[in-house]
Amino acid sequence: MVEMLPTAVLLVLAVSVVAKDNATCDGPCGLRFRQNPQGSGRIVGGQDATIGAWPWMVSLQVFTSHNNRRYHACGGTLLNSHWLLTAAHCFVSKKKVYDWRLIFGAREIVYGNDKPAKPPQQERYVEKIIMHEKYVPSLEHNDIALVKITPPVPCGQFIGTGCLPQFRAGPPRVPQACWVAGWGFLKEKAYRIAPTLQEARVNLIDLDLCNSTQWYNGRIRSTNACAGYPEGKIDTCQGDSGGPLMCRDNVANTYVVVGITSWGVGCARAKRPGVYTATWPYLNWIASKIGSNALHMAQLPTPPRPTSQAPPARPPSARPFIPLPPLHLDLDPNPLPTPPPPPPHPPTAPSPITKRSANVLSFAKRLQQLIEILKGKTFSSAKGYYEMETTDLPELTAVS
Ligand SMILES: *[C@@H]1O[C@H](CO)[C@@H](O)[C@H](O)[C@H]1NC(C)=O
Ligand SMILES: *[C@@H]1O[C@H](CO)[C@@H](O)[C@H](O)[C@H]1NC(C)=O
Repeated sequence: MVEMLPTAVLLVLAVSVVAKDNATCDGPCGLRFRQNPQGSGRIVGGQDATIGAWPWMVSLQVFTSHNNRRYHACGGTLLNSHWLLTAAHCFVSKKKVYDWRLIFGAREIVYGNDKPAKPPQQERYVEKIIMHEKYVPSLEHNDIALVKITPPVPCGQFIGTGCLPQFRAGPPRVPQACWVAGWGFLKEKAYRIAPTLQEARVNLIDLDLCNSTQWYNGRIRSTNACAGYPEGKIDTCQGDSGGPLMCRDNVANTYVVVGITSWGVGCARAKRPGVYTATWPYLNWIASKIGSNALHMAQLPTPPRPTSQAPPARPPSARPFIPLPPLHLDLDPNPLPTPPPPPPHPPTAPSPITKRSANVLSFAKRLQQLIEILKGKTFSSAKGYYEMETTDLPELTAVS
């Protein structure tokens, strides 16, 4: 008992420091509340996360005004009380700010909930959606977006900000064991989201291997990260989009959001790992939207040591390419009949969005999707997860 006391005191101190409400969220990033003991931890093939394990994890939910319900569609990372980071493809079929609700501090979520979120969860509106100006839906290039939160969300119990890499960090180091988290499908054709936040350990995979013929056959860009296992089995899936890929920084002793869940072929298939938008190549873009100071606050504190300038990101190559038809389940079972009441602060219109590319899905496929959607009332924005094999792709056209 006596021996345990110092530990208990330390714990209470730690929790009271971490859990203290802070309306501005300008404390250190990457603080966690609780976590599963690591090691066996092994989304698809993951485990339930404990509450507060990933305090920056946000649930982006599609809101339907005719029945007042909200449906989880994507994950996101809280950067500060005003901004969260997610994937651009989440907004392809739902681009209006009043289509969305944001849930913070959650572990359990109810799909189709019509009750307001109760503390410690916080529910917020979207003020603005900023998709990357060069987002290409058919290829998932630059699949990154920022969402402005209104009113601002306070950090506190189970809500905190995630860390972005430092400028000098460079692309995520490979190999490295990292973590993904989300409420996405527990298996490829589950067609329903997980009620409890899942977490899974995944390995970062060499981009050249991930890009090779037997794998993604040329679809991978230098701005991506690949994570998973050669044999599949553990992966992100539909509904995990926009959520964080997190790697431990051993110097700062915390997790850094190095990627955003973007796409994959199926889920947890062999040689079809999850593909992520790396955050590091987009630090300047993020700074240009949320401000350099805000970005700086969301980056790991830089210990004073001689810094060599990080090498610039390789410019993305613009090779002609025939894309796969995406499995966007974009048939909306509950089209919004009337615009819902505007958020307390009138939102500004979202930035113009790249035109949606036509889906090359057969009638039968669409019918099947419709049936599945109606069965599971599944909202679909979830993911650029594709069903077709990349090996069916015609050879890439060589640049002459
Ligand atoms: C809370 O916010 C203040 C600034 O308003 C900051 O100085 C302080 O470090 C923050 N506290 C915590 C616990 O993060
Ligand atoms: C992947 O392969 C394609 C086609 O060869 C190439 O254009 C692209 O740059 C490669 N990606 C990376 C990250 O090297």
